[in-house]
Amino acid sequence: MKLENKFNKKIVLPLITICFIAVAALAQQNKKWDAPETAKKEKNPVTVNNENLADGKEIYTKQCKSCHGTKGKGDGPKSANIDISCGDFTKEEFKSETDGEIYWKITDGRKPMPSFGAKLSDNERWEVVNYIRTLGEKKK
Ligand code: HEC
Repeated sequence: MKLENKFNKKIVLPLITICFIAVAALAQQNKKWDAPETAKKEKNPVTVNNENLADGKEIYTKQCKSCHGTKGKGDGPKSANIDISCGDFTKEEFKSETDGEIYWKITDGRKPMPSFGAKLSDNERWEVVNYIRTLGEKKK
């Protein structure tokens, strides 16, 4: 019994501690959602004009608003049931991302954010990129 106790304290507890630290470190690493450099550099082929923005808005309203909210602040009704933040499209941090980076994230998704690579055409995804950019613009 005594020996068992010693074993516990000297080996098992430190081992458990190390496991916890490793899991925490991994979780931290996974938090970052970075697009590959090639994706970041991809150019948006869709011109920003009223017609394309209207298309983007229509797609956003149907497919994205439930989580990301009308103004892109990440406060749509579904966001209440999601335990991580949906992000905020009006924040500088988001605005500093390239079109290619945003496009890549919409294409691939990351649970619970759905992947839209198969759901929306390339053109539709670029249109949404243009639309969500307008959400961060100052309104009078
Ligand atoms: C079911 C809820 C849900 C829906 C629907 C959804 N998203 Fe998301 N979205 C999320 C969540 C949650 C994240 C954060 C994911 C993460 O950080 O791992 C996210 C992240 C993003 C990001 C990355 C934000 C950043 O700061 O880099 C973009 C861009 C995005 N979503 C765009 C869209 C677009 C466009 C649509 C519609 C075509 C959409 N999302 C639909 C939940 C959703």
